[in-house]
Amino acid sequence: MRQNPLAYLDDSLNDLRQQGLYRRLRVLDGEQAAHTSVDHHHVVNLSSNNYLGLTTHPTLRARALDALQVLGVGTGSVRTIAGTMAIHMELERRLAAFKKTEAAVVFQSGFTANAGTVSSLLGKNDVIVSDELNHASIIDGARLSRATIKVFPHRNVAAAREIVAALPRTQRTLLITDGVFSMDGDLGPLPELCDLADEYGCIMMVDDAHASGVFGRNGRGTVDHFGMHGRVDVQVGTLSKALGALGGYVAGTKSLIEFLYHRARPFLFSTSHPPSVAATCIAALDVLEHEPQWMERLWANTRFFKAGLEALGFNIGISESPITPVIVGDGALAMTLSDKLFDAGVFAQGIGFPTVPQGKARVRTIVTATHTEDELQFALDAFRRVGSELGII
Ligand SMILES: Cc1ncc(COP(=O)(O)O)c(C=O)c1O
Repeated sequence: MRQNPLAYLDDSLNDLRQQGLYRRLRVLDGEQAAHTSVDHHHVVNLSSNNYLGLTTHPTLRARALDALQVLGVGTGSVRTIAGTMAIHMELERRLAAFKKTEAAVVFQSGFTANAGTVSSLLGKNDVIVSDELNHASIIDGARLSRATIKVFPHRNVAAAREIVAALPRTQRTLLITDGVFSMDGDLGPLPELCDLADEYGCIMMVDDAHASGVFGRNGRGTVDHFGMHGRVDVQVGTLSKALGALGGYVAGTKSLIEFLYHRARPFLFSTSHPPSVAATCIAALDVLEHEPQWMERLWANTRFFKAGLEALGFNIGISESPITPVIVGDGALAMTLSDKLFDAGVFAQGIGFPTVPQGKARVRTIVTATHTEDELQFALDAFRRVGSELGII
């Protein structure tokens, strides 16, 4: 009888079970919304990246349906063969205007935008200087590029400077940071890194996946928030979080975008977005421009919820964004807190090693613009009950 060559996978899964790291997928029974049903439980949802509540916005739904009727369900090709529709070009023009750059290119996801861009811009003779907590897609892109990767401690500009200063002056170097770090909700030190990039002639790149729609005027991101227009060569954003749909993009000069059209492998070798997705993203940009109330509510809810958690005595770290970690330290305790909150009607994911360092396990919360104050108070009450039951507060 043939032996199962994949038997080692079961061993790995059993290891995960033994370490308490095995996770079953939680399943939403309906829409991605602030109050929804997950695994047949009604919950206040603090786990999504749907910052502005746009996943269910009526304008986005209507534009998606229109595009579906007029343009069909798919494109049937990669962008570089027959998969570029006028609506893809319109989205790219709109993103460039939004980010105040010459041009923009859309990828299938934020992940492929980062990985495809880093791996095509740099080669084996180059150096990538990267914050230790940068997103996995940046790490994968850096590995694919075959460049030398040098990692600096989180937000430590002095350490980044030491690395850059030790390189030959002619060395092509990419300096790269997340705009908002997804596990701690803190911001990359963009002004200081831009100074460093200017001084040593580095390519400056920021991944604004969690900042687009959240920071800056009308949600233009951290480059706008810090007034760094013209000083960041490569801006990555996502269409999958605050913008409510799916996709990633790179904004920058015309030459950068044309180069990526020719060299970024996910752009060249993977089918383009269905036209309904492109139409949804254009509608999301219209909403950002004309409905500032969503960002205002997001920030009002963020302030309310952070203040509530802090008053209860939880350790909420150093977040400056709507991402608020509740840090408990022990991995098993974070998972128990998350499970008990779920039973109490609050969906907030537990996160442990290796996603965050050992001893820094947490439950991560993200409020959205569409949570009501009652829902957030309900969540705070659950945190108080479960937190004291587990001896965390
Ligand atoms: C910092 C960061 N960059 C990039 C991504 C990838 O974006 P997307 O979900 O659009 O692929 C994520 C999302 O998980 C992220 O947190």
